[in-house]
Amino acid sequence: MEGYCTPAWDFLLEYDTPRIVLIKNRTVGVINRLVQLGILAYVIGWVLVWEKGYQEFDSIIGSVTTKVKGLAFTNSTLLEEHVWDAADYVIPSQQESSFFVMTNVILTKNQVQGRCPELPNKTSRCKSDSDCAAGYHDPHSNGILTGKCVNYNEKVQTCEIFAWCPVENDTVIPKPAILGAAENFTVLIKNSIAFPKFHFSKRNILTNANTSYLKACRFNRKNDPFCPIFRLGDMVQEAGEDFQQLAVQGGVMGLFIEWNCNLDQSPSQCVPKYAFQRLDNKHYSETLSPGYNFRFAKYFINKNGTETRTLIKAYGIRFEVEVFGRAGKFDIIPTMINIGSGLALLGVATILCDIIVLYLLKKSNYYKEKKFKYVEDYELGIESENSYGTIENSGNTN
Ligand SMILES: *[C@@H]1O[C@H](CO)[C@@H](O)[C@H](O)[C@H]1NC(C)=O
Ligand SMILES: *[C@@H]1O[C@H](CO)[C@@H](O)[C@H](O)[C@H]1NC(C)=O
Ligand SMILES: *[C@@H]1O[C@H](CO)[C@@H](O)[C@H](O)[C@H]1NC(C)=O
Ligand SMILES: *[C@@H]1O[C@H](CO)[C@@H](O)[C@H](O)[C@H]1NC(C)=O
Ligand SMILES: *[C@@H]1O[C@H](CO)[C@@H](O)[C@H](O)[C@H]1NC(C)=O
Ligand SMILES: *[C@@H]1O[C@H](CO)[C@@H](O)[C@H](O)[C@H]1NC(C)=O
Repeated sequence: MEGYCTPAWDFLLEYDTPRIVLIKNRTVGVINRLVQLGILAYVIGWVLVWEKGYQEFDSIIGSVTTKVKGLAFTNSTLLEEHVWDAADYVIPSQQESSFFVMTNVILTKNQVQGRCPELPNKTSRCKSDSDCAAGYHDPHSNGILTGKCVNYNEKVQTCEIFAWCPVENDTVIPKPAILGAAENFTVLIKNSIAFPKFHFSKRNILTNANTSYLKACRFNRKNDPFCPIFRLGDMVQEAGEDFQQLAVQGGVMGLFIEWNCNLDQSPSQCVPKYAFQRLDNKHYSETLSPGYNFRFAKYFINKNGTETRTLIKAYGIRFEVEVFGRAGKFDIIPTMINIGSGLALLGVATILCDIIVLYLLKKSNYYKEKKFKYVEDYELGIESENSYGTIENSGNTN
């Protein structure tokens, strides 16, 4: 009964500790140890070792520059003998983390502002001037109708337009691709990366490379996986595509450079991993708006002062270079956090065993009685105060 009358300052000189109930039951004991073992295995094996929970991580920053090399020779009726070099087929000549290589082309030379017949199709065909409403044009037109109906050739008449003449005829895409030789072009990809948190920087031209090696090497997954020079055909092949087929209509390719570095090891172990994938959906694009193309023009001023242009519809492959990765290094803070949360997880074993002992076992009522101390409601408690006291006393004498 003394406990009830303790003066307030006595609290300072007290210590309380929870009572532990030790249950000698083999099943529960085994389950308890198994769960604890499982949690320890998870914390040590998975969190600390596999997921490197003892490390601090930093994500990558970096830059990419590219240089394409190679020559293509064509001998067509339109262009006759023509050599294409990087300045012709890399458009634009520099881009951020990507480059475009023209693989197929429709050229329309010597266009001038003037009047000429529109390409024949259902709406542009005409029989008389009344079929052609002057001033009409829509987003698909090549020019603005003049209101006349003229001969496109001996058989067909079409509406005359004011436009860059003669108009481009892109109904037939050259096949095989005019610049199919781009398969043999090479690209040097220079990638510098840094992990600022760890003051670590590196590039994909490894330190053991020398000038003669860099001139001759080609990326090859088996024999030379660190050469930064890639043959375009190899990149497309690695992505499981056929270059000559892709070259006709163009497409978008991804080159992924992955840097996953463990800076607890030697810096020379921190090396790039290359992967290739086609990024535009081949199957979706086969029928509807396939491939990748755009138009541009080169302008000239004739001797007589008229402006002339060569219109180029370029089909090609855009290569997107994406750099990603992270580096990890030992750090005491994440280590302590992970160990701490692992230890806290051990409490799951207690909860699980409590559920088994108090609710699932046959003798659960017996264990409940042993674990919990039942206290009556206040009024009832006053009535049975005496017996309450005896329990307390008998507890003390044992
Ligand atoms: C290009 O083709 C023409 C005939 O089409 C031929 O006379 C000429 O020799 C060819 N040029 C080369 C370099 O092969
Ligand atoms: C035919 O050509 C005209 C003008 O060039 C264009 O406005 C129209 O959309 C075209 N029609 C079809 C069916 O392609
Ligand atoms: C467009 O060019 C192709 C071949 O280059 C030709 O077969 C076709 O008839 C041309 N179309 C028109 C409308 O002139
Ligand atoms: C690429 O080069 C090889 C040999 O250098 C040659 O046999 C092949 O025909 C070339 N491919 C193309 C598409 O020009
Ligand atoms: C360049 O490195 C290669 C091996 O990577 C070696 O065989 C060659 O002798 C080196 N050349 C020079 C000039 O150091
Ligand atoms: C200017 O010269 C070009 C050929 O060089 C010719 O096709 C064009 O008709 C000329 N234009 C005028 C206005 O003389």
